[in-house]
Amino acid sequence: MRRNISISNFHIVLITQTGVIYYFMETFSKNKVYVTRKIPEPGPSILKKYFQINMNPEPDILDRDTLLENVKNVDALICMLGDKVDSNVMDAAGPNLKIISCYSVGYDHVDIYEATKRKIIVTNTPNVLANTTADLTFSLILSAARNIVNADRHVRIGNWESGWSPDLFLGYDVNGSTLGIIGLGEIGTLVAKRARGFDMQVIYYSKTRKRQMESELDITFVPLEELLRRSDFVSIHVLLNKDSFHMIDESKIKLMKKTAFIINTSRGQVINEQHLINALRNKAIAGAGLDVYESEPISSSNPLTQFAQTVLLPHIGSATFKTRSKMAEVAANNIVNFFNGRGIVHKIN
Ligand code: DGY
Repeated sequence: MRRNISISNFHIVLITQTGVIYYFMETFSKNKVYVTRKIPEPGPSILKKYFQINMNPEPDILDRDTLLENVKNVDALICMLGDKVDSNVMDAAGPNLKIISCYSVGYDHVDIYEATKRKIIVTNTPNVLANTTADLTFSLILSAARNIVNADRHVRIGNWESGWSPDLFLGYDVNGSTLGIIGLGEIGTLVAKRARGFDMQVIYYSKTRKRQMESELDITFVPLEELLRRSDFVSIHVLLNKDSFHMIDESKIKLMKKTAFIINTSRGQVINEQHLINALRNKAIAGAGLDVYESEPISSSNPLTQFAQTVLLPHIGSATFKTRSKMAEVAANNIVNFFNGRGIVHKIN
């Protein structure tokens, strides 16, 4: 039973009969959080409850000098893809910086080695964006195989003059084809689940074999080379690191069928982009559906834009209202939970 309640500026302390003291408000209200770009609710509201929050009011990337200036003396940072969070940013923030919360599942934009050396925790937003990204992967598979974007443009610009035609925009069947998934993490697994609805045969390659998933999803583990030889659609779902950098290069693309498509919703640097461009130019593969690129954004003069057999998206894998809100909630709660020592913190180091 409660015997005493004392209220101070940032604490409510309850003293019970057993002498136990509960802190009801957090003791970290004075900590500063900087958010590098505007994120949706409930992220800002969660943070405002506990911290002094400063958020770039725009969704656009900050120039480097502004970023370095704005992170000064912060205790926590929420950063996005495109913010290169390296030793310079950590130096600019200074010794108070304790946690870097990525508003993404990927964390290749943060120098994890440097953060770990400085005992700075780095977190991400797993679980909440996998289904949304798997949906987008499937839309790329379907769009690339069935000429969706080219056909839409054909109608819009008034080129559809002869009505139904036996050879108008012939494409490739997705149903009954073979899907090769590289990387069977959360997103790869959900892509495999969706493939069942299209009666696809699913083969996968992953650094670690996932035997339980094999029986649950009726999928087969194969070496990478075999996957590339057999697949009609090769879909990439690995994190970017030194092992996956340029994992798909000329020697790997050469193994693919001439009628096969490559789909990438992970990170652009997993594919050697110049080698992919050469392959598309030489019609060594049927096409590509890409949401990510070696360097983003790509310009309209990037050779990838010149092929009819590519579908190119501006890195929108997780871009739904619901998912971006969820990501904001997780990114904010990672910081709250880190400071209050309760609840889940999605740590990656
Ligand atoms: C991620 O989370 O890493 C995606 O690329 C963007 O949502």
